[in-house]
Amino acid sequence: MSPTGNAAVLIVGSGGREHALCAALARSPKVARVVFAGGENAGMAAIAERMEPDAVLARASEFDLVVVGPEAPLVDGLADELRALGVPVFGPGKAGAALEASKAFTKAIAAEANIPTAAARVADTRDDAHAALAAMGAPVVVKADGLAAGKGVVMATTMAEAEAAVDACFEGAFGAAGARVVIEEMMTGPEVSLFALSDGTTVRPFTTARDFKRAYDGDLGPNTGGMGAVSPAPGVPDAVIDEAMARIVKPTVDALAARGIPYVGILYAGLMLTSEGPKLIEFNVRFGDPECQAMLPRLTSDFYALLLATATGTLADAPIEFSRESAVAVVVAAAGYPGPLEKGEVIGGLDAVAAGGAEVYHAGTRDADGKVLSNGGRVLAAVALGADPEAARARVYGALETLDWPGGRMRTDIAAA
Ligand code: AMP
Ligand code: GLY
Repeated sequence: MSPTGNAAVLIVGSGGREHALCAALARSPKVARVVFAGGENAGMAAIAERMEPDAVLARASEFDLVVVGPEAPLVDGLADELRALGVPVFGPGKAGAALEASKAFTKAIAAEANIPTAAARVADTRDDAHAALAAMGAPVVVKADGLAAGKGVVMATTMAEAEAAVDACFEGAFGAAGARVVIEEMMTGPEVSLFALSDGTTVRPFTTARDFKRAYDGDLGPNTGGMGAVSPAPGVPDAVIDEAMARIVKPTVDALAARGIPYVGILYAGLMLTSEGPKLIEFNVRFGDPECQAMLPRLTSDFYALLLATATGTLADAPIEFSRESAVAVVVAAAGYPGPLEKGEVIGGLDAVAAGGAEVYHAGTRDADGKVLSNGGRVLAAVALGADPEAARARVYGALETLDWPGGRMRTDIAAA
Protein backbone atom coordinates (compact mmCIF):
# COMPACT_ATOMS: atom_id res chain seq x y z
CA MET A 1 0.00 0.00 0.00
CA SER A 2 1.19 3.53 -0.72
CA PRO A 3 2.42 5.67 2.18
CA THR A 4 0.18 8.45 3.51
CA GLY A 5 -0.43 11.15 0.95
CA ASN A 6 0.25 8.92 -2.00
CA ALA A 7 -2.90 6.91 -2.46
CA ALA A 8 -4.43 6.31 -5.87
CA VAL A 9 -8.18 5.65 -6.07
CA LEU A 10 -10.28 4.40 -8.96
CA ILE A 11 -13.98 5.24 -9.11
CA VAL A 12 -16.12 3.15 -11.42
CA GLY A 13 -18.92 5.26 -12.91
CA SER A 14 -19.33 8.80 -14.19
CA GLY A 15 -22.65 10.20 -12.96
CA GLY A 16 -23.57 12.78 -10.31
CA ARG A 17 -23.07 10.29 -7.48
CA GLU A 18 -19.61 9.46 -8.79
CA HIS A 19 -18.69 13.15 -9.06
CA ALA A 20 -19.60 13.55 -5.38
CA LEU A 21 -17.58 10.42 -4.48
CA CYS A 22 -14.68 11.75 -6.52
CA ALA A 23 -14.73 15.18 -4.83
CA ALA A 24 -14.94 13.66 -1.33
CA LEU A 25 -12.05 11.28 -2.04
CA ALA A 26 -9.96 14.04 -3.61
CA ARG A 27 -10.42 16.09 -0.39
CA SER A 28 -8.60 13.42 1.62
CA PRO A 29 -5.01 14.39 2.42
CA LYS A 30 -4.13 10.71 1.94
CA VAL A 31 -5.18 10.76 -1.72
CA ALA A 32 -2.79 11.90 -4.44
CA ARG A 33 -4.60 10.66 -7.53
CA VAL A 34 -8.22 9.97 -8.50
CA VAL A 35 -9.18 8.23 -11.74
CA PHE A 36 -12.68 7.45 -12.94
CA ALA A 37 -13.81 4.79 -15.36
CA GLY A 38 -16.81 5.81 -17.41
CA GLY A 39 -18.19 8.21 -19.95
CA GLU A 40 -17.68 11.94 -20.26
CA ASN A 41 -18.33 14.19 -17.26
CA ALA A 42 -16.98 17.74 -17.41
CA GLY A 43 -17.05 18.15 -13.62
CA MET A 44 -15.17 14.94 -12.88
CA ALA A 45 -12.68 15.61 -15.68
CA ALA A 46 -11.73 18.86 -13.91
CA ILE A 47 -10.55 16.99 -10.78
CA ALA A 48 -9.76 13.47 -11.99
CA GLU A 49 -8.39 11.52 -14.89
CA ARG A 50 -10.78 9.50 -17.07
CA MET A 51 -10.25 5.98 -18.34
CA GLU A 52 -12.39 3.61 -20.39
CA PRO A 53 -14.52 1.19 -18.34
CA ASP A 54 -13.16 -1.82 -20.22
CA ALA A 55 -9.67 -1.05 -18.87
CA VAL A 56 -10.64 -1.45 -15.19
CA LEU A 57 -9.41 -5.02 -14.66
CA ALA A 58 -6.21 -4.52 -16.66
CA ARG A 59 -5.25 -1.41 -14.67
CA ALA A 60 -6.65 -2.34 -11.24
CA SER A 61 -3.20 -3.01 -9.72
CA GLU A 62 -2.36 0.71 -10.07
CA PHE A 63 -4.84 1.53 -7.31
CA ASP A 64 -4.92 1.35 -3.51
CA LEU A 65 -8.73 1.27 -3.56
CA VAL A 66 -11.45 0.79 -6.17
CA VAL A 67 -14.89 2.27 -5.42
CA VAL A 68 -17.74 0.94 -7.56
CA GLY A 69 -20.50 3.56 -7.86
CA PRO A 70 -23.47 2.10 -9.78
CA GLU A 71 -25.38 -1.15 -9.22
CA ALA A 72 -24.97 -2.63 -12.71
CA PRO A 73 -21.24 -3.50 -12.46
CA LEU A 74 -21.79 -4.81 -8.91
CA VAL A 75 -24.63 -7.05 -10.08
CA ASP A 76 -22.34 -8.23 -12.91
CA GLY A 77 -19.69 -9.29 -10.37
CA LEU A 78 -17.03 -6.62 -10.98
CA ALA A 79 -16.16 -6.44 -7.27
CA ASP A 80 -15.53 -10.22 -7.22
CA GLU A 81 -13.21 -9.97 -10.21
CA LEU A 82 -11.28 -7.10 -8.62
CA ARG A 83 -10.97 -8.92 -5.28
CA ALA A 84 -9.66 -11.98 -7.09
CA LEU A 85 -6.84 -9.69 -8.29
CA GLY A 86 -6.07 -8.72 -4.69
CA VAL A 87 -7.26 -5.09 -4.96
CA PRO A 88 -9.18 -3.52 -2.03
CA VAL A 89 -12.71 -2.90 -3.31
CA PHE A 90 -15.57 -0.87 -1.87
CA GLY A 91 -18.75 -2.59 -3.10
CA PRO A 92 -20.38 -6.00 -2.65
CA GLY A 93 -19.80 -9.00 -4.87
CA LYS A 94 -22.43 -10.41 -7.16
CA ALA A 95 -24.02 -12.56 -4.42
CA GLY A 96 -24.50 -9.57 -2.08
CA ALA A 97 -25.65 -7.32 -4.92
CA ALA A 98 -28.63 -9.64 -5.32
CA LEU A 99 -30.20 -7.59 -2.51
CA GLU A 100 -30.80 -4.96 -5.20
CA ALA A 101 -30.99 -7.18 -8.28
CA SER A 102 -33.74 -9.42 -6.93
CA LYS A 103 -36.62 -8.30 -4.75
CA ALA A 104 -37.49 -11.98 -4.26
CA PHE A 105 -34.01 -12.65 -2.82
CA THR A 106 -34.45 -9.74 -0.41
CA LYS A 107 -37.84 -11.07 0.66
CA ALA A 108 -36.25 -14.50 1.31
CA ILE A 109 -33.50 -12.93 3.47
CA ALA A 110 -36.10 -10.80 5.26
CA ALA A 111 -38.21 -13.86 6.06
CA GLU A 112 -35.18 -15.85 7.26
CA ALA A 113 -33.94 -13.02 9.51
CA ASN A 114 -37.39 -11.96 10.72
CA ILE A 115 -36.98 -8.42 9.35
CA PRO A 116 -40.01 -6.11 9.49
CA THR A 117 -41.22 -5.55 5.93
CA ALA A 118 -44.43 -5.64 3.91
CA ALA A 119 -46.09 -9.06 3.68
CA ALA A 120 -45.39 -10.34 0.18
CA ARG A 121 -45.92 -13.17 -2.28
CA VAL A 122 -43.71 -13.98 -5.22
CA ALA A 123 -45.29 -15.33 -8.42
CA ASP A 124 -43.59 -16.74 -11.51
CA THR A 125 -46.73 -17.17 -13.60
CA ARG A 126 -49.68 -14.97 -14.40
CA ASP A 127 -52.11 -17.44 -12.79
CA ASP A 128 -50.12 -17.56 -9.55
CA ALA A 129 -49.96 -13.77 -9.52
CA HIS A 130 -53.72 -13.44 -9.94
CA ALA A 131 -54.27 -16.01 -7.18
CA ALA A 132 -51.95 -14.04 -4.88
CA LEU A 133 -53.82 -10.83 -5.68
CA ALA A 134 -57.14 -12.45 -4.91
CA ALA A 135 -55.77 -13.62 -1.55
CA MET A 136 -54.26 -10.25 -0.60
CA GLY A 137 -56.85 -7.80 -1.96
CA ALA A 138 -56.38 -4.10 -2.76
CA PRO A 139 -54.71 -1.73 -1.99
CA VAL A 140 -51.59 -3.61 -2.98
CA VAL A 141 -48.18 -2.96 -4.55
CA VAL A 142 -47.16 -4.87 -7.69
CA LYS A 143 -43.44 -5.00 -8.49
CA ALA A 144 -41.44 -6.47 -11.36
CA ASP A 145 -38.74 -8.60 -9.70
CA GLY A 146 -35.50 -7.48 -11.35
CA LEU A 147 -33.78 -4.19 -12.05
CA ALA A 148 -36.37 -1.95 -13.72
CA ALA A 149 -34.75 1.44 -12.98
CA GLY A 150 -37.44 2.37 -10.46
CA LYS A 151 -40.22 2.03 -13.02
CA GLY A 152 -41.36 -1.49 -12.20
CA VAL A 153 -43.51 -0.56 -9.17
CA VAL A 154 -47.28 0.03 -9.34
CA MET A 155 -49.20 1.23 -6.30
CA ALA A 156 -52.63 -0.22 -7.04
CA THR A 157 -55.55 1.10 -5.02
CA THR A 158 -58.12 -1.11 -6.76
CA MET A 159 -58.15 -4.77 -7.83
CA ALA A 160 -58.60 -3.71 -11.48
CA GLU A 161 -55.41 -1.62 -11.36
CA ALA A 162 -53.54 -4.47 -9.65
CA GLU A 163 -54.70 -7.01 -12.22
CA ALA A 164 -53.69 -4.70 -15.07
CA ALA A 165 -50.23 -4.23 -13.52
CA VAL A 166 -49.73 -8.00 -13.21
CA ASP A 167 -50.79 -8.49 -16.83
CA ALA A 168 -48.42 -5.72 -17.99
CA CYS A 169 -45.52 -7.46 -16.22
CA PHE A 170 -46.21 -10.83 -17.83
CA GLU A 171 -46.77 -9.18 -21.21
CA GLY A 172 -43.18 -7.87 -21.04
CA ALA A 173 -43.65 -4.21 -20.04
CA PHE A 174 -40.43 -4.46 -17.99
CA GLY A 175 -38.60 -7.01 -20.14
CA ALA A 176 -36.91 -9.83 -18.23
CA ALA A 177 -37.46 -7.91 -14.97
CA GLY A 178 -41.18 -8.68 -15.21
CA ALA A 179 -40.96 -12.44 -15.66
CA ARG A 180 -41.50 -12.74 -11.92
CA VAL A 181 -43.63 -10.39 -9.85
CA VAL A 182 -43.66 -9.56 -6.16
CA ILE A 183 -47.04 -8.59 -4.71
CA GLU A 184 -46.86 -6.67 -1.46
CA GLU A 185 -49.03 -5.24 1.25
CA MET A 186 -49.15 -1.43 0.89
CA MET A 187 -47.44 0.29 3.82
CA THR A 188 -48.00 3.91 4.84
CA GLY A 189 -45.80 6.48 6.56
CA PRO A 190 -42.88 8.81 5.85
CA GLU A 191 -39.98 7.34 3.88
CA VAL A 192 -36.33 7.57 4.88
CA SER A 193 -33.20 6.28 3.23
CA LEU A 194 -30.75 4.85 5.78
CA PHE A 195 -27.19 4.30 4.58
CA ALA A 196 -24.98 1.86 6.47
CA LEU A 197 -21.39 0.76 5.97
CA SER A 198 -20.46 -2.90 6.29
CA ASP A 199 -17.06 -4.57 6.11
CA GLY A 200 -18.67 -8.00 6.16
CA THR A 201 -18.77 -8.24 9.96
CA THR A 202 -18.99 -4.77 11.44
CA VAL A 203 -22.02 -2.72 10.38
CA ARG A 204 -22.31 0.98 11.24
CA PRO A 205 -24.79 3.70 10.30
CA PHE A 206 -23.42 6.29 7.86
CA THR A 207 -26.23 8.84 7.68
CA THR A 208 -29.75 9.34 6.35
CA ALA A 209 -31.35 11.21 3.46
CA ARG A 210 -34.71 11.66 1.83
CA ASP A 211 -35.03 11.87 -1.93
CA PHE A 212 -37.71 13.42 -4.11
CA LYS A 213 -38.49 10.95 -6.87
CA ARG A 214 -41.36 12.55 -8.76
CA ALA A 215 -40.58 14.71 -11.78
CA TYR A 216 -42.63 17.80 -10.85
CA ASP A 217 -43.43 20.07 -7.92
CA GLY A 218 -45.98 18.81 -5.42
CA ASP A 219 -44.75 15.21 -5.93
CA LEU A 220 -46.58 15.06 -9.25
CA GLY A 221 -45.63 13.38 -12.50
CA PRO A 222 -43.69 10.22 -13.24
CA ASN A 223 -41.02 8.70 -11.01
CA THR A 224 -37.45 9.66 -11.89
CA GLY A 225 -34.05 8.65 -10.58
CA GLY A 226 -34.50 11.53 -8.11
CA MET A 227 -34.93 15.29 -8.54
CA GLY A 228 -33.36 16.29 -5.25
CA ALA A 229 -32.47 15.17 -1.75
CA VAL A 230 -32.07 16.40 1.79
CA SER A 231 -29.68 15.00 4.37
CA PRO A 232 -30.09 14.13 7.15
CA ALA A 233 -33.73 13.11 6.61
CA PRO A 234 -35.68 15.64 8.70
CA GLY A 235 -37.70 14.45 11.66
CA VAL A 236 -36.12 11.02 12.12
CA PRO A 237 -35.16 10.43 15.77
CA ASP A 238 -31.88 8.60 16.51
CA ALA A 239 -33.89 5.90 18.25
CA VAL A 240 -35.60 5.04 14.96
CA ILE A 241 -32.22 4.73 13.24
CA ASP A 242 -30.97 2.51 16.07
CA GLU A 243 -34.06 0.34 15.74
CA ALA A 244 -33.67 0.06 11.96
CA MET A 245 -29.99 -0.85 12.34
CA ALA A 246 -30.77 -3.50 14.97
CA ARG A 247 -33.87 -5.00 13.37
CA ILE A 248 -33.23 -4.54 9.63
CA VAL A 249 -29.67 -3.72 8.55
CA LYS A 250 -27.56 -5.80 10.95
CA PRO A 251 -29.73 -8.93 10.64
CA THR A 252 -29.47 -8.67 6.86
CA VAL A 253 -25.67 -8.53 6.87
CA ASP A 254 -25.62 -11.38 9.41
CA ALA A 255 -28.00 -13.49 7.29
CA LEU A 256 -25.78 -12.95 4.25
CA ALA A 257 -22.67 -13.84 6.28
CA ALA A 258 -24.37 -17.04 7.43
CA ARG A 259 -24.83 -17.95 3.77
CA GLY A 260 -21.12 -17.32 3.18
CA ILE A 261 -21.68 -13.90 1.58
CA PRO A 262 -19.56 -11.14 3.17
CA TYR A 263 -21.30 -7.83 2.39
CA VAL A 264 -18.65 -5.14 1.84
CA GLY A 265 -19.69 -1.62 0.91
CA ILE A 266 -22.66 0.65 1.50
CA LEU A 267 -26.09 -0.79 2.15
CA TYR A 268 -28.91 1.60 1.32
CA ALA A 269 -32.09 0.65 3.16
CA GLY A 270 -35.28 2.28 1.87
CA LEU A 271 -37.49 2.40 4.96
CA MET A 272 -41.05 3.33 5.73
CA LEU A 273 -41.68 4.65 9.23
CA THR A 274 -45.00 2.96 9.93
CA SER A 275 -47.08 3.10 13.09
CA GLU A 276 -45.52 -0.28 13.95
CA GLY A 277 -41.94 1.04 13.57
CA PRO A 278 -39.52 1.15 10.65
CA LYS A 279 -40.15 -1.39 7.91
CA LEU A 280 -38.00 -2.28 4.93
CA ILE A 281 -39.21 -1.21 1.47
CA GLU A 282 -36.13 -2.25 -0.46
CA PHE A 283 -32.35 -2.46 -0.39
CA ASN A 284 -29.92 -0.90 -2.82
CA VAL A 285 -26.27 -1.91 -2.81
CA ARG A 286 -24.79 1.51 -3.65
CA PHE A 287 -25.02 5.15 -2.66
CA GLY A 288 -28.23 6.88 -3.77
CA ASP A 289 -28.14 9.43 -6.55
CA PRO A 290 -28.75 12.32 -5.68
CA GLU A 291 -28.70 11.35 -1.97
CA CYS A 292 -24.92 10.91 -2.16
CA GLN A 293 -24.52 14.50 -3.38
CA ALA A 294 -26.43 15.71 -0.28
CA MET A 295 -24.69 13.41 2.22
CA LEU A 296 -20.99 13.72 1.38
CA PRO A 297 -20.63 17.52 1.76
CA ARG A 298 -21.71 16.99 5.40
CA LEU A 299 -18.96 14.44 6.10
CA THR A 300 -16.14 15.89 8.20
CA SER A 301 -14.04 12.75 8.65
CA ASP A 302 -11.69 11.32 6.01
CA PHE A 303 -13.76 9.58 3.31
CA TYR A 304 -10.82 7.68 1.82
CA ALA A 305 -9.81 6.28 5.21
CA LEU A 306 -13.41 5.25 5.85
CA LEU A 307 -13.91 3.48 2.52
CA LEU A 308 -10.52 1.78 2.75
CA ALA A 309 -11.32 0.59 6.28
CA THR A 310 -14.64 -0.78 5.00
CA ALA A 311 -12.92 -2.53 2.10
CA THR A 312 -10.24 -4.09 4.32
CA GLY A 313 -12.25 -5.25 7.34
CA THR A 314 -11.30 -2.53 9.86
CA LEU A 315 -14.50 -0.47 9.83
CA ALA A 316 -14.90 -0.82 13.63
CA ASP A 317 -12.04 1.61 14.22
CA ALA A 318 -12.75 4.24 11.54
CA PRO A 319 -14.13 7.70 12.44
CA ILE A 320 -17.52 8.54 10.88
CA GLU A 321 -18.31 12.18 11.63
CA PHE A 322 -20.74 14.62 10.08
CA SER A 323 -21.33 18.34 10.38
CA ARG A 324 -24.49 19.19 12.31
CA GLU A 325 -25.71 21.13 9.30
CA SER A 326 -28.31 20.01 6.78
CA ALA A 327 -27.63 19.72 3.08
CA VAL A 328 -30.10 20.12 0.23
CA ALA A 329 -29.32 18.90 -3.30
CA VAL A 330 -31.39 20.15 -6.24
CA VAL A 331 -31.13 18.37 -9.56
CA VAL A 332 -31.25 20.41 -12.76
CA ALA A 333 -32.48 18.24 -15.63
CA ALA A 334 -32.99 18.74 -19.34
CA ALA A 335 -36.49 20.21 -19.84
CA GLY A 336 -37.98 17.02 -21.30
CA TYR A 337 -36.66 14.66 -18.60
CA PRO A 338 -37.78 11.90 -17.93
CA GLY A 339 -39.16 11.95 -21.51
CA PRO A 340 -37.43 12.81 -24.80
CA LEU A 341 -34.91 15.62 -24.34
CA GLU A 342 -32.32 17.85 -25.99
CA LYS A 343 -28.57 17.48 -25.48
CA GLY A 344 -25.63 19.69 -26.37
CA GLU A 345 -26.95 22.93 -24.86
CA VAL A 346 -24.43 25.36 -23.36
CA ILE A 347 -24.61 25.62 -19.56
CA GLY A 348 -23.31 28.93 -18.25
CA GLY A 349 -23.06 30.53 -14.83
CA LEU A 350 -21.57 27.51 -13.05
CA ASP A 351 -18.84 29.58 -11.40
CA ALA A 352 -21.48 32.01 -10.13
CA VAL A 353 -23.49 29.12 -8.65
CA ALA A 354 -20.35 28.01 -6.78
CA ALA A 355 -19.63 31.60 -5.69
CA GLY A 356 -23.21 31.73 -4.37
CA GLY A 357 -22.36 29.00 -1.86
CA ALA A 358 -23.39 25.80 -3.65
CA GLU A 359 -21.25 22.93 -4.84
CA VAL A 360 -22.10 21.68 -8.31
CA TYR A 361 -21.91 17.98 -9.15
CA HIS A 362 -22.12 17.08 -12.81
CA ALA A 363 -24.13 14.07 -13.96
CA GLY A 364 -24.71 14.42 -17.69
CA THR A 365 -22.28 17.00 -19.04
CA ARG A 366 -19.33 17.13 -21.38
CA ASP A 367 -16.62 19.64 -22.05
CA ALA A 368 -16.35 21.20 -25.52
CA ASP A 369 -13.44 23.64 -25.83
CA GLY A 370 -13.89 24.91 -22.30
CA LYS A 371 -17.70 25.14 -22.53
CA VAL A 372 -19.89 22.81 -20.49
CA LEU A 373 -22.59 21.15 -22.60
CA SER A 374 -25.66 19.24 -21.41
CA ASN A 375 -25.33 15.55 -22.19
CA GLY A 376 -28.11 13.65 -20.42
CA GLY A 377 -31.42 13.71 -18.57
CA ARG A 378 -30.37 14.62 -15.06
CA VAL A 379 -27.55 17.02 -15.93
CA LEU A 380 -26.24 18.37 -12.64
CA ALA A 381 -27.05 18.86 -8.99
CA ALA A 382 -26.30 21.89 -6.82
CA VAL A 383 -25.86 21.31 -3.07
CA ALA A 384 -25.69 23.76 -0.18
CA LEU A 385 -25.37 23.42 3.57
CA GLY A 386 -27.32 25.39 6.16
CA ALA A 387 -28.13 25.33 9.85
CA ASP A 388 -31.38 23.53 9.06
CA PRO A 389 -33.10 22.21 5.91
CA GLU A 390 -34.83 25.55 5.32
CA ALA A 391 -31.53 27.48 5.42
CA ALA A 392 -29.82 24.95 3.13
CA ARG A 393 -32.78 25.09 0.78
CA ALA A 394 -32.77 28.92 0.64
CA ARG A 395 -29.04 28.89 -0.07
CA VAL A 396 -29.10 26.32 -2.86
CA TYR A 397 -32.05 27.89 -4.68
CA GLY A 398 -30.45 31.33 -4.25
CA ALA A 399 -27.21 30.10 -5.80
CA LEU A 400 -29.09 28.43 -8.67
CA GLU A 401 -30.62 31.76 -9.70
CA THR A 402 -27.34 32.54 -11.45
CA LEU A 403 -27.36 29.31 -13.50
CA ASP A 404 -27.57 30.26 -17.16
CA TRP A 405 -29.24 27.35 -18.93
CA PRO A 406 -32.65 28.18 -20.45
CA GLY A 407 -33.17 24.51 -21.40
CA GLY A 408 -32.79 23.29 -17.81
CA ARG A 409 -35.58 22.47 -15.39
CA MET A 410 -35.66 21.91 -11.65
CA ARG A 411 -38.23 21.29 -8.97
CA THR A 412 -38.77 24.36 -6.81
CA ASP A 413 -40.00 22.48 -3.73
CA ILE A 414 -37.11 20.17 -2.79
CA ALA A 415 -36.99 19.87 1.02
CA ALA A 416 -39.84 22.36 1.45
CA ALA A 417 -41.52 21.83 4.81
P1 AMP B 1 -38.99 0.33 -4.85
O1 AMP B 1 -38.61 0.26 -6.30
O2 AMP B 1 -39.24 -1.00 -4.22
O3 AMP B 1 -38.09 1.24 -4.09
O4 AMP B 1 -40.35 1.14 -4.80
C1 AMP B 1 -40.41 2.47 -5.24
C2 AMP B 1 -41.30 3.28 -4.33
O5 AMP B 1 -42.59 2.67 -4.24
C3 AMP B 1 -40.83 3.35 -2.90
O6 AMP B 1 -39.90 4.39 -2.70
C4 AMP B 1 -42.11 3.59 -2.14
O7 AMP B 1 -42.48 4.95 -2.22
C5 AMP B 1 -43.12 2.80 -2.93
N1 AMP B 1 -43.34 1.46 -2.35
C6 AMP B 1 -42.70 0.33 -2.68
N2 AMP B 1 -43.16 -0.71 -1.96
C7 AMP B 1 -44.12 -0.24 -1.16
C8 AMP B 1 -45.00 -0.83 -0.19
N3 AMP B 1 -44.97 -2.14 0.08
N4 AMP B 1 -45.87 -0.03 0.44
C9 AMP B 1 -45.93 1.29 0.16
N5 AMP B 1 -45.14 1.91 -0.75
C10 AMP B 1 -44.24 1.16 -1.40
N1 GLY C 1 -32.40 8.31 -5.69
C1 GLY C 1 -32.80 6.97 -5.65
C2 GLY C 1 -31.74 5.99 -5.87
O1 GLY C 1 -30.57 6.29 -5.99
O2 GLY C 1 -32.07 4.80 -5.92
